[in-house]
Amino acid sequence: MTKGKTDMFPCKFDHRNERQLDMFTDTIEFEYVKSVIGSGYEEAVAKLAIEDKVAYRAARKNMQIHSAIILKINNEFSGFFTFQVNHEAKEFCLLQSAMNLDKKDKTIYSQMVNKIIEQNTFGYPMIMTVSTKHDLECPKVFNAIGFETYLTLSGFEYMVYGKLEDVRMKRLAHATMTNAWTTTRSDWLKMKKEWNAKIEAAGEKYNIPNPKFASRDGCWQGSSGYSNVVLTKRVIEDGKVKTKKGKSFNGNASVLDPVACEVILRFFMPTEGKRVYNPFGGGVQFGYIAGSYGYEYVASEIRQNQCDANNMLCQDFENAKWIKSDSATFSPEGNFDLVFTCPPYYKVEKYIDYEGEIPDGEINSMQTYEEFRSALFAGYKIAMEHLKDNRFFVAMVGDSRASNGAYYGAEAETELFLKEQGLHLYNKIVYLEAEFTRLAQAKRILDYRKFPKREQKIIVAYKGDMSLIKGTFPAIGRL
Ligand SMILES: C[S@@+](CC[C@H](N)C(=O)[O-])C[C@H]1O[C@@H](n2cnc3c(N)ncnc32)[C@H](O)[C@@H]1O
Repeated sequence: MTKGKTDMFPCKFDHRNERQLDMFTDTIEFEYVKSVIGSGYEEAVAKLAIEDKVAYRAARKNMQIHSAIILKINNEFSGFFTFQVNHEAKEFCLLQSAMNLDKKDKTIYSQMVNKIIEQNTFGYPMIMTVSTKHDLECPKVFNAIGFETYLTLSGFEYMVYGKLEDVRMKRLAHATMTNAWTTTRSDWLKMKKEWNAKIEAAGEKYNIPNPKFASRDGCWQGSSGYSNVVLTKRVIEDGKVKTKKGKSFNGNASVLDPVACEVILRFFMPTEGKRVYNPFGGGVQFGYIAGSYGYEYVASEIRQNQCDANNMLCQDFENAKWIKSDSATFSPEGNFDLVFTCPPYYKVEKYIDYEGEIPDGEINSMQTYEEFRSALFAGYKIAMEHLKDNRFFVAMVGDSRASNGAYYGAEAETELFLKEQGLHLYNKIVYLEAEFTRLAQAKRILDYRKFPKREQKIIVAYKGDMSLIKGTFPAIGRL
């Protein structure tokens, strides 16, 4: 218990709703209670919580099981702040707070927060969600105490007293939340921009032009595809109408979204995990992110040019490597804690090596879908054999249409294959892309009763005992 006169000075915040405290005579006390229930303050907390409105949940019995700092001014109950220590997620959550309406004071309120900070003897990150509209429980007050905002959402700021990386998982969870990942939301795009800037910087450092799409120029096959609708422009040059390629170098290459990579890596890598295998390596994104987190990343990639570009870009990481190999026969060394792959979608892109050659064994160039599928599944099978028990196998898949217009059914066949191999189908995630290019396509193909494809699927399968998942993978904590 802390007792004594405040050493307050006139507060620099807005005092319109605050009483004028007499700083020489008021006695300010803070009392720690392990649980509101049983402390004798149940009724007072509930009453003030209801009056305060924002803190109304603190009136509930199931919230009063938590600890609190009780504020007393001149020996009278004048406010509270509830909190909860979560040892499983290793975090310290600040819950609800309120001060008597006629005693509101930002300096005393801040002292109450500091009293809570003193309770965190565990060194856990401290998290708090505040409203931009509240007078006390607001970003400005918490910022002044040393909290930092990691997410702004619908009038609320999610703040942390600690390191931003400690709450990264929460930020990723908020970006996804359900199995439909809308990749056009502002925080998703913000995080994507940050990763892309890092990849661009690595390209600059190691002289790899266009690093996000390195080795993929011209891989997009659809000459009448929607990339052209958006990216080409007709201009007049020397009195003649000419077609200019748009600003993109890649022609819509299907490189991975770095945020999707990060979410998959963080959610499906076990707490003790270290190694990731990708049987169809492709672009640099997944390896770059795995490398940034200090994981070992091994990818089988059949094109030397893609391996070279990626290995150059990731040379600052200890252990991220692309090995030129055919995943249908390549056996990576040792066992892995996560398999993640985004394989070719049959005939959607061309994969070309140095000298414009398509390497032998490249599965998209195979004559029939059936040949493609058996080489794809051969790569998957070896990957599964090298996956440890109680681990996830994640494949980002997209179906494509045969020349008669019908889908091949690659997504469904992938699910069935994984199931036949004894894995459990655990999540089916819809990865939703921007709509605008698809709208242009819709105008051309809806007459054929084809809806332009705007999504890809992320199939998450699990090898092992599903009852162990919660204990094997890191807790996410409060969202
Ligand atoms: C669709 S891309 C990967 C797409 C991914 N989204 C990316 O970021 O690039 C698939 C990759 O598989 C590679 N590939 C094709 N056949 C292969 C095989 N038999 N073994 C290993 N890699 C192969 C291609 O060269 C291509 O880079």
